[in-house]
Amino acid sequence: MKNNNIGIAVIGSGRIGSLRARLSAKHPSVNFLAISDINFDNAKKLSEISGADFYSSNNDEVISRPEVTAVIVSSPEGEHVAPICKALELGKPVLVEKPISLTLEDADKILEVLNKTKGDLKIGYSRRYKECFLRAKEQMLHGRLGKVIGGTTRVYNSRAQAFNILERDLHATPVLDILTYYVDLMCWFLEGDRPVEVVARGNKEIFKGYEADDVTWAIVTFESGAVINFGVSYALPTHYPTLGQSDRVELLGKDGVMIIDDDHHDHIIYSEKGIPHAYMPNHEVNMAFLGSNTGGDWAVGNFWGPLANETRAWLDYLATGAPTIHTTPQQARITLETTIAIVRAVETGQSIKLPLLN
Ligand SMILES: NC(=O)c1ccc[n+]([C@@H]2O[C@H](COP(=O)([O-])OP(=O)(O)OC[C@H]3O[C@@H](n4cnc5c(N)ncnc54)[C@H](O)[C@@H]3O)[C@@H](O)[C@H]2O)c1
Repeated sequence: MKNNNIGIAVIGSGRIGSLRARLSAKHPSVNFLAISDINFDNAKKLSEISGADFYSSNNDEVISRPEVTAVIVSSPEGEHVAPICKALELGKPVLVEKPISLTLEDADKILEVLNKTKGDLKIGYSRRYKECFLRAKEQMLHGRLGKVIGGTTRVYNSRAQAFNILERDLHATPVLDILTYYVDLMCWFLEGDRPVEVVARGNKEIFKGYEADDVTWAIVTFESGAVINFGVSYALPTHYPTLGQSDRVELLGKDGVMIIDDDHHDHIIYSEKGIPHAYMPNHEVNMAFLGSNTGGDWAVGNFWGPLANETRAWLDYLATGAPTIHTTPQQARITLETTIAIVRAVETGQSIKLPLLN
């Protein structure tokens, strides 16, 4: 049976909330859209752009509207808990942006309410919905690499975007906020296995005075013995050509190897007129790696890419019950715990065992 009477509330009308709202408005089964933002003007602006039916600066009012049947939480990382719990208590399914929260205490509060309400919560790790990684997962499902023995992944971006993210939430460091995507991806590729130990080192010159490191390299050992290297640097020069994430993912198995070059050095544009950065409205580059926008791109009247695939898959799931590959709350907690362990390993210079005891 198809549910054609979906009402969506979007909480947080910034960059990502705006994309989710506009994508929701286009979905054939959505016939009510409500917008909330702590900043009334942001809610009003997005409501006008997306043609929403209702907007407010009061999250609870928006979530509680009887027409709202499901909720997207796109507020900053440290502001996910209250709107998720409110929606779950009202029995409304939730899609929340990654990471589930910035602390294990907050994640456990969410999991407690989820268990109590037997609710439905999915976490938006949109890298899963990037086509190169969907293809990679398909190879893993066929077991083409055999037993995974190791791997490596690293992601680069300009310091301009790092400062922008830290402005939104000082605690949303490149490890907790970005490397988290790659911990999620590797745990998804190695589904059934889990991280048990972390060693890591970091360096700080550019982000002095912040919790963030310029460069972080970690080696994570999984229960199976697989050793995976995770790296992140969001300290590349301000006008480095990436428009989001330039990354690589490599997996080594007993029977095969898979190398995914997602730097986008193969799609280059150079323009004397400048190319606007989708995430930072006042930032331009002359050269850009097309395809490196993390969420995807507007092209010929529609939005395409991982965030679009992910939003549509969730709306289709609400409409038809079709299963999705979104990150589960339990997987999101393991990923959060692993990134926190990476931070601790850098701070202490010690190896950190998982699960964390406190
Ligand atoms: N999947 C992706 O591709 C992707 C990319 C970037 C960011 N994200 C995630 O999306 C989330 C939001 O990031 P963004 O880039 O849209 O941030 P943003 O700063 O552009 O927008 C956040 C909005 O939330 C509002 N807000 C702040 N506190 C609020 C509260 N308590 N209740 C309601 N609204 C509140 C702010 O006023 C702002 O309008 C974060 O969790 C981030 O990690 C995901």
